[in-house]
This record gives sequence, C-alpha cells and structure tokens, in this order.
Amino acid sequence: MIELNHAEIDAVATQYGSPFYVFDPAQFRSNIWRFSAAMRARYEPFILGYSYKTNYLPAACLLVKEAGGYAEVVSRLEYDLAIRLGYDHQKIIFNGPLKREQDLDIAFSGRAVVNLDSMTELEFLCDWVKKHPGEKPVVGLRINVNLTGADGESHVQAGLKAGRFGFAGENLDSAVEKLSTLGVDLVSLHGHSSSNNRSVENFHTICRTLCSVREYYSLDGLRFFNIGGGFFGRVPKELIGREVPSFEEYAAVISEVLLADPWVRKNRPALVAEPGVSVVADSMSFYTKIHSEKTVPGQKNFITVDGSVFNVKPTMHPYNMLFRHIPESAGLGDELLCDVVGSTCMEKDVILQEISLPNPQPGDYIEIKNAGAYTIVMTPPFINLAPAIVAPDGKGGFELLREAQSVDHFLACYNLRTLVI
Ligand SMILES: Cc1ncc(COP(=O)(O)O)c(C=O)c1O
Repeated sequence: MIELNHAEIDAVATQYGSPFYVFDPAQFRSNIWRFSAAMRARYEPFILGYSYKTNYLPAACLLVKEAGGYAEVVSRLEYDLAIRLGYDHQKIIFNGPLKREQDLDIAFSGRAVVNLDSMTELEFLCDWVKKHPGEKPVVGLRINVNLTGADGESHVQAGLKAGRFGFAGENLDSAVEKLSTLGVDLVSLHGHSSSNNRSVENFHTICRTLCSVREYYSLDGLRFFNIGGGFFGRVPKELIGREVPSFEEYAAVISEVLLADPWVRKNRPALVAEPGVSVVADSMSFYTKIHSEKTVPGQKNFITVDGSVFNVKPTMHPYNMLFRHIPESAGLGDELLCDVVGSTCMEKDVILQEISLPNPQPGDYIEIKNAGAYTIVMTPPFINLAPAIVAPDGKGGFELLREAQSVDHFLACYNLRTLVI
C-alpha cells in the first residue's frame, strides 16, 4: 500500500479536503489475482464474485469486472450499480434476505444467478414462472450451514447461536420439491456463512454441507458451488495477535473436500467464492489531521482528529488498527500516551486507544491502514459529511474517485419547507 508523506497529504487535503481516503488500485488488483490464482491452482473452473457490500467503490468494482470477476450483490442498490458499471446480468450473483418482487423480476429476466433465501422469494418465483412461460431463470438456494464446531460452540458471527440465512431441514425439502414441481432447474447452492473466526474448518463444513445437499436431493443439474466470503486477507500478526490462514491454505481444504466427491470430480461445477474483506481491506487508508490535544488531569490525554471512528471501524471492534503518525516537522518532544478520538461528539468515538505518539501536534496527520472494508459503505453523514476518496493518478499526483460530500449533496434529498400544521 502506498504511503504518503506530509507534503503529499497536505496537497491532497488542500485540494479535496481533510480527512480523506486513499485507494490503492494496484494493491486491490493484486489481491484479486492472488485470491483467484490460489483457488485456480487447486480447482477449476473458479469464479470470483466480489462482495459489493464490503466496499462498492465503483473504481474497485470496475477492476473486478476487468479481471473477469462477477458482481455479488445483496440489494437493488448494488444490483443497479453493477448494471450501471456495464455488467451483464448474467455476471451478477444476487443474494441477500430482501429481494422484492420487482427486483427479482429484473434478475430473473436478465438471467442473473439468484440465490433464493426464503419461502417468500420462492412464492415470487412461482408467480414469475407462471407469467413467463418458456423462460429459464437461473436459480440457486442459499443453504443454512450449521457452524457448530467440534467443541460444541457456535462459530456464527457475533457469538449468535444460529445463522438466519438460507434453507435447512424441512424448509429445504419443500424448497427443492417446489422447484421441481415448477420445472425450474436448481443450478446453484450457496453456503456463505459469516463466522466469528474465519477459520479454514468453516470452509470444510461449508463444502461438506453443499456436497451432502447435492447428493441427498440428487441435484444433477448444479452448475455452481458457491462457498461465499469470510476469508482472512493479509492481516499483520500484531493486529490480532496470531497468524491467519493464507489463500492457499483455504484453497487446499476447499478443493480437498470438493474433489473427494465423485460427482464433483465427474461434473466439475464452477466453484464460486465471494471475497470481501480479504481482498479490499488493505487497499485503502484513511488520512486524518490532528486538530487539538487535550488532557483531562489525572485521567487521560486525548488527541482529537478531524475524522471519526465511523470512517475507519463503524462496527466499533475492539482492536487498534494499524496506524502511522506523520508529523508536520520532526520537532523534539516527549512520547505522549493518549487516545486518538474523533470529530463527532460521542464518547465512544475512539479511533485508537492508549497508544504512544512522539510529540503529536496540531497539523500532523494520522494514517489508519486497512480501512477498506465495511467503512465507506457504512458511514452515513453522521455529524460530518462523507470524505473524499482519491487514488494515485500514475503521474505523481492524485485522482478524485469520490468528491467530499457537500452540504448541497446532503440537503438535496430533504424538503426544506416549513410544514403547515
Ligand atoms: C453473501 C455474502 N457473500 C460474501 C460476503 C463477504 O464476506 P467477507 O467480507 O467476510 O469476505 C458476505 C458478508 O457478509 C455475504 O453476506
């Protein structure tokens, strides 16, 4: 990931405003390639469906398109974005729990891969098929994978006992039967399962479950085995205190389970993965300027910056992200034990907790690294407006990818009339 010096940061901040994000397209593209290469070395055919919700920066989505990847979308907003970016419907994978009838109409007609998530969506499909005789929608089912480990503990995200997505048990029986009665081919099984540990074992479970479902219902027309996202990317050990699996280690387990199944060996359905965090997190940094220093005597020192925790970890996880302090001038001074706090008036707007900075001064910058996942997509204009996003322009300067939101953008959706009561 490119690192800017103080003069470069100041130049961007003067032109586009502070704080701002920097997107590194070379880093992102290399992650996409490394991920695909690791999977393809073990299993072909392989399709990468980039998880739009993790970061739907159009510049990133276009790099995926250029590399031949699919768009994995979970809402009409994301679906429309993929179409605006020039995607064929057939290279869109439509997931998520809320696909409205009108959204499904577009996806079925365009022959996007639609992974149904509920009986309600199946009812929409029944109506659609009746209205469109002779047409062949591309339909999959999301499978509810049980992520209970050998230790009896649930590994579903956030310590939840069970995941809410997909079909299992008698619901799955009825869904498969309904599709067969309708005469609709089931071409995709989807097993994304958000976990609390991103372990290799989860992918063992997901692949085993998909193979068992295929076999149990004799789904011989399957074309896609979709294992979803949930991988670690390159995470420095100091960030979470342990080594994480490499793309190659995930690929080894996935291919081992899939290729142990004779039907898979014979028919070779496409393996689909939907990476998000693992390919985009380290391709973006956030630069924020130190505004002031403050001490609450006997308690703590605080460094206030012009960004906020909502720009870098809106999920408010407890880890200090990797950072860099970029001083305006290398003056002498003591190390300061402090919290770096944000520009919103919320106590919990703590960006970095109990870190030591060498003589931090107003005008210095802090770079928060690995700020590319679940950041720009989760930051509403809360107290402050959304910051600019830039990328290197290849000529030593920076190109604007998203302008900073202005009060005009902000107000455009509101009715400013005084209401007559
Ligand atoms: C269906 C689906 N696919 C892919 C992803 C991407 O997951 P991650 O960002 O953990 O790779 C998610 C995230 O929750 C998801 O719900």
